[in-house]
Amino acid sequence: MPEITPDLVAQVATKLYQGASPGSASAGTGGGSLGIARALADRARQETAAAAPAVAPPASVSAAAATLPGAGVAAPCAIPTAIGGMPESGAALERIAQAFAALKTPPATAAATAPVTPPAVPGAVASAPADPLTYHSEKLVRQQTGAGASGGHGSLKSFVQNVQLAGISGTPKNGACADPFASQLRISLPATPKLAGSSAFNVAAVRGDFPILHQKVNGQPLVWFDNAATTQKPRQVIETLSRFYERDNSNIHRGAHTLAARATDAFEGARDKVRDYLGAGSSDEIIFTRGTTEAINLVAQSYGREFLRPGDEIVLSELEHHANIVPWQIIAREKGAVLRVIPVNDRGEILLEEYGKLLGPRTRLVALAHANNSLGTILPIREMTALAKSRGAHVLIDGAQSVAHLPVNVQELGCDFFVFSGHKIFGPTGIGALYGRRELLEAMPPWQGGGNMIRDVTFAETTYSGIPAKFEAGTPNIADAAGLGAALDYVRHVGLGNIAAYEHQLLYYATEELQRVNGLRLIGTARDKVALTSFVLKDKSVTEVGRFLDRHGIAVRAGHHCAQPSLRRFGLEATVRPSFSFYNTFAEIDRLVQALKSIR
Ligand SMILES: Cc1ncc(COP(=O)(O)O)c(C=O)c1O
Repeated sequence: MPEITPDLVAQVATKLYQGASPGSASAGTGGGSLGIARALADRARQETAAAAPAVAPPASVSAAAATLPGAGVAAPCAIPTAIGGMPESGAALERIAQAFAALKTPPATAAATAPVTPPAVPGAVASAPADPLTYHSEKLVRQQTGAGASGGHGSLKSFVQNVQLAGISGTPKNGACADPFASQLRISLPATPKLAGSSAFNVAAVRGDFPILHQKVNGQPLVWFDNAATTQKPRQVIETLSRFYERDNSNIHRGAHTLAARATDAFEGARDKVRDYLGAGSSDEIIFTRGTTEAINLVAQSYGREFLRPGDEIVLSELEHHANIVPWQIIAREKGAVLRVIPVNDRGEILLEEYGKLLGPRTRLVALAHANNSLGTILPIREMTALAKSRGAHVLIDGAQSVAHLPVNVQELGCDFFVFSGHKIFGPTGIGALYGRRELLEAMPPWQGGGNMIRDVTFAETTYSGIPAKFEAGTPNIADAAGLGAALDYVRHVGLGNIAAYEHQLLYYATEELQRVNGLRLIGTARDKVALTSFVLKDKSVTEVGRFLDRHGIAVRAGHHCAQPSLRRFGLEATVRPSFSFYNTFAEIDRLVQALKSIR
C-alpha cells in the first residue's frame, strides 16, 4: 500500500484546486471545497519543504518527485512522515476527500471494478472520450501499473494510489472545466503502450542530467522552451561524444586496426539502436543522414527519379514543415508531377474526408508530418497510412516532431519511409536517420556517389553496394551517430510512457494558464497535440515578445517556424512558440505566464 505523504496530498489538492471550475465555489482562501483544497495544498507543501532532506535527489529515474505549479522543485516522495500520522492533516485529508467527492460525481464503486469507459460527449465522434486528457492519462496509469481500476473517476484513495503506483507526479485536471476555451480544447494523448523497464519519473533527477539547463541567461535561470527547434543534450550523450574522440576515433569499415573496429562498432551499434527504436525489421533499412531534411531530400531525389512519371501526384498536408514541401516541389517540377494538399479545420486538424477525396489513381506518394511543428497537431497517421496504402500509394512520415514524444513502430504503422533528426531527440546535430522498406530502398538508385557506396569501380562502369551503404557515400558522421545511439538509450531509460504523460500535463497546464494572459490568442487547438503551444499577443510583434521573454531568461521561438502554409491557414505570418520537454517544469510555465502578463 503506498504511503500517503504531504507531497502527494499537495499534488492532489493542487490538482483539485486547478480542476475545479473557478465559478463553482469560492476560489479564494476562505471556505468551500476550493478553499480547503488550496489551503491544504499550501500547508502540505510547507510540510513537504520542512520534511525534505537537504540533499539533492540522485541523478537517476526514481520515485516520483514533482514540480508543482508555483512550488519550485518538490522534494522526493520518500518523505518519512505519513500524513495520517498528523491529526490536523488527517482531518484535512478527510475534508479533501469530501471536496473531491463533491467535485467528481461519478460513483467510486464502478470505477473500482470496471475498466474506464469515458462518458460520451454530445456531438463528439463516437470514439472521442469526454475528457481525453483524463481518459488517456488513466489508460496510461492502468497500462503502467497493470491496475484494472482507474482512480480518475473513483475515490480519492484509488486516485492517489494509482498516481503513486505509476510514479506520475501530479495529475491532470479531472472533470469539467469552466473555461470555455479549455472545454472546447480537450487536448488528448494517444495511448502509450506499457514500456518494458519503464520506471517512475523524477523531473528533478532528469534535469540533473542536462548541464546546460543550470545556467543564468540575462541574470535569470534559463528556461528552455525551444525544444521543437532543438532539444538539449544529457550528460550521457556529451560523454559518449568525448569518449569517442578521446579513445575510439577512426574512419570506419575499411581499417584493419583496433580503433577502426571500435569506431565501426560504435557506428553500426547506433544503427541497431535506431532500428530497435523505430521497430524496423532490419538494420539494413536504416540509412544515416544529416537529419530529417536530408532524409526527405534523399527520398525525393532517389525515389522520385525512379518512380515518378508526368502527371503523378504527391499528397502533402497543409501542416508540413518546409522540409517536407520544398524537396517535393523540386522533384515534381523535374518530373512533371503535381502536388496535392490536404486542408485542415480551424483547430488545425486534418480534414480526413478531404484527404480521402484527394487520393486517386495517380497518387504515387503521401508525405505527412507525424506531428506538426507550428501548432503541435498530431496527425492520425495510422489511419492515413492505411488509407494511402489501400489505394496503392507509398507513404513517408516525417517524425521530426514526434520521435521524442510518441512511440513509433514502422512495421505496425506500415509506412514505407520514416525520417527524423537526432538533435530533436536529445542527440547531436548533423545526424538523423531514414527508415525505408527494403524492397523500395533496393529498387531506388543512389543519390550521391563516392567512397563507401560502391562494390566495384572502373572508368567504364560502377556497381553499387547493397543497402544501407548504397545511400551513405563518403565518410559518415561517426561520432554523432554514436551520440544518437546514446540519446535513444537515454530516452528508453527515462521511458517514453513517462515522458508522454508528463509532457501532456505540461501542455495542459500551459494551455490553460496562457489563456489567462490578456490579449493572447492561441493558435492550434487540435485534440491530439504534442507539447507545444503557439500564440500571438495583441498589439505586439512576435519578435518583441521573443526578445522580452529572453530578457527574463526564457527561450522561445518567434517566427514562421519553417511552416508558412500552416500559419497562413490562420491568417498569420508568425507566432510565438513555447515548446516543452520532459525536463521542463510547471514552475517554468508559471514564469512564462508571469512574464507575459507583465509585458507592456
Ligand atoms: C516537422 C519537421 N520536419 C522537418 C524538420 C527539419 O528538421 P531538420 O532541420 O533537423 O532537418 C523540422 C525541424 O524543425 C520539423 O519540425
